[in-house]
Amino acid sequence: MKTPLQLIFLSFLFCFLSLKYKAQSPTWAQDIAPILYSNCTSCHHTGGLAPNSLMSYTDAYNFRFMIKQYVDSNYMPPWPPDPQYKHLAHERVLSVTDKNKISQWVLGGGQQGNAAGAPTPPTYTNTATQLSSIDFTGKMQNYMVNTANDLYRCFVINTNFSVDKFAAEIEVKPGNSSIVHHVLVFEDTTALIKQKDSLDPGAGYTSFFGTGSNDSRLIGEWVPGTAPIKFPNLMGVRLRKNTRIILQIHYPQGTYLKLDSTRVNIKFATNTTSPLFREVFLAPLLSETNLINGPLSIPPNVVKTFTSVSTLTTTAALPFPAITLLSVAPHMHLIGNKMKVFALENVTNDTLPLINIPRWDFKWQGIYNFRNPIKVPLGSKLVCHSEYDNRASNPNNPNNPPQTVNQGESTTDEMNLVFFAFTYYFPGDENIIVDSSDIVGVNEMQKNIASTLQLFNVFPNPAKNQAQLNYFAPTNYLAKAKITNIEGKLIKEWPVTMQEGYGAINLNIDNLTKGQYFLSIETKSFTKTKQFIVYE
Ligand code: HEC
Repeated sequence: MKTPLQLIFLSFLFCFLSLKYKAQSPTWAQDIAPILYSNCTSCHHTGGLAPNSLMSYTDAYNFRFMIKQYVDSNYMPPWPPDPQYKHLAHERVLSVTDKNKISQWVLGGGQQGNAAGAPTPPTYTNTATQLSSIDFTGKMQNYMVNTANDLYRCFVINTNFSVDKFAAEIEVKPGNSSIVHHVLVFEDTTALIKQKDSLDPGAGYTSFFGTGSNDSRLIGEWVPGTAPIKFPNLMGVRLRKNTRIILQIHYPQGTYLKLDSTRVNIKFATNTTSPLFREVFLAPLLSETNLINGPLSIPPNVVKTFTSVSTLTTTAALPFPAITLLSVAPHMHLIGNKMKVFALENVTNDTLPLINIPRWDFKWQGIYNFRNPIKVPLGSKLVCHSEYDNRASNPNNPNNPPQTVNQGESTTDEMNLVFFAFTYYFPGDENIIVDSSDIVGVNEMQKNIASTLQLFNVFPNPAKNQAQLNYFAPTNYLAKAKITNIEGKLIKEWPVTMQEGYGAINLNIDNLTKGQYFLSIETKSFTKTKQFIVYE
């Protein structure tokens, strides 16, 4: 508690600082709104996951001190992995420049600036898809959430696929984004799922970690603010014939009488009969069975560390010299505190950093894509160091006083899993740039330089008036840019010079009517095409 005198002193200090900074301080319209719109408002809008909107000047002004504090402490935007250890795709991390701007803006009194010059606020609709097209939509039955405790509920969706399909893109669309905190997507072919569903009254059934069926395979994971899962070309995760899709949704404690009807959209992979097509597997390559100092049992009042190691070996199913890691998803429960995962390369013994979560937060777990797929030769080891804090001082400890926690699937048990999305290695995989429509810190990617022209997605997409295409060019290119519509009709064409390194081509799409378009970059030796949507 501050005394009145301290408060008076603080307000003087503030006035003084405000005056000092006023002259050159950033303004909301020019400097702050663009930062909030690209990093915060996907959750902080009315009806979004975060409790408060940060869309308007007044919103930002009212929360300015908290914004500064949360941003300075890296609490917001939420991004548990340590970017110093390994940069990951779609990283949600503010640059030092942006953090400084926020800080100066707050210290400078939170000025509005020229409101007319502020960028147009983004619009958030729950229906617009970010997939390139949708082949299957599954919607859960409406469910009225009414819970004092955290609720993990599985909803079953029939597919009636007559043959196996492969998902190339998976997107979860929360029905009620203010309560859908986290979604795991599984597929399962057994009747057990249906049984569980009918035994539990109301839509779906309650189940904490998995679906409760051994046949269930994880195919995707979603947390708010993340981009949909999109595998590189000619890859996909298998959905078995007649499978059922299960959405396991986490609704936070204290959710009363709120309706949800979450959907999953899937785009199937094409060319699945091509010899170049590869199945993607999502599996816990590291689990409790790989612990070298197991079993996973944590006595009360201690901090305990564990290490798991697993060697990638040749099996009939892996007739390739290496595997390609696409994504990683660490998993622990409530007293889990840290997880660091890396590979030790066969022969060279080089360390390949994969992910480090210095402060595990069960509420913000996710599936993280690598910016470039990672080649791991067979014979290499995957290693995970983890730490559990079973002391009373851990605010997430479910037991007071602390009790022995063992491995198990209920919330108060613990787990030690690292899921990976992976496939067989093909030469060149490490040069794929996992496409991003919200690239942050592209310079850090330089060290994984690609040898062919890499085009990112058109951004923003859907777009209006203006859009841009970011690229990485290993050399200079003289090229033609062409925009064609969905019927293949050429809309416009212009010459572009692409300089070596990272660059952008601006697209003036002012006069394009609403619809789907293709942007092609043509050189003498190749054509590369990206799809984008113009909205009104
Ligand atoms: C992925 C979703 C997400 C993103 C992106 C996000 N936030 Fe949050 N934010 C939340 C949630 C959820 C809470 C409330 C729970 C909590 O405090 O952990 C919150 C709370 C806050 C609060 C406390 C006031 C309030 O609204 O309850 C502030 C201030 C805040 N965020 C600022 C920011 C800023 C600034 C950014 C961008 C730089 C940002 N957040 C990005 C989800 C997000």
